[in-house]
Amino acid sequence: MEFRDVVRTRRMVRGYDPDRLVPADLVDRILTHATHAPSAGFSQGWAFLVLETRETLDSFWAATTPPGAASRWLAGMRTAPLIIVPLAHKDAYLDRYAEPDKGWADRDESRWSAPYWYIDTGMASLLMLLTAVDEGLGACFFGIPPQRLAAFREAFGVPDAYAPIGAITFGYRAADRRSASLKRGRRPLDEIVHRGRFHPAA
Ligand SMILES: Cc1cc2nc3c(=O)[nH]c(=O)nc-3n(C[C@H](O)[C@H](O)[C@H](O)COP(=O)(O)O)c2cc1C
Repeated sequence: MEFRDVVRTRRMVRGYDPDRLVPADLVDRILTHATHAPSAGFSQGWAFLVLETRETLDSFWAATTPPGAASRWLAGMRTAPLIIVPLAHKDAYLDRYAEPDKGWADRDESRWSAPYWYIDTGMASLLMLLTAVDEGLGACFFGIPPQRLAAFREAFGVPDAYAPIGAITFGYRAADRRSASLKRGRRPLDEIVHRGRFHPAA
């Protein structure tokens, strides 16, 4: 696929063919592409929890959704045969930037203009979303509710030092409904681009 088509046709897919598994080589390609994301100081402070058996997928939904929860969204998302949870590892950044070539030996978080551990893990996530499109798959990035994080960690043995920035479902697309949020429309460039100087909206 042309890169511009990958970018422009990508959209979050919330319903999958439950009978078509994602082949192992494709799962590996998605994960390998994630590692090509840029990272501050090449810290690569990320990890990826891969869930692809019925048992682990069921455990994910049980941990991250309230008991008895039922919705069209959940019914569609549960059809995904693969979930990858991108985890941000802040300590990898604090350690990396304490090395002599960076010199922030105090590991002071106020030195960071933005939490690069989340940014880089987000970049890796986007590469996985784009790889899915390129490979003819659908995918959806979504949040894990804060009140379900403890149950999620417990279910999969994820240490506190690793923060899930969300989760991504993958699979072959089934008919699904587009997000209601899209009614907002894509913001035009002249509203968001500030050439030469920031121009407040009139
Ligand atoms: C950080 C982030 C969190 C999101 N959380 C959810 C979510 O919890 N549930 C969901 O269905 N979609 C979620 N989305 C998908 C957005 O709703 C979607 O990207 C947006 O409506 C634009 O649609 P598109 O990606 O299909 O073009 C999330 C996207 C991002 C980037």
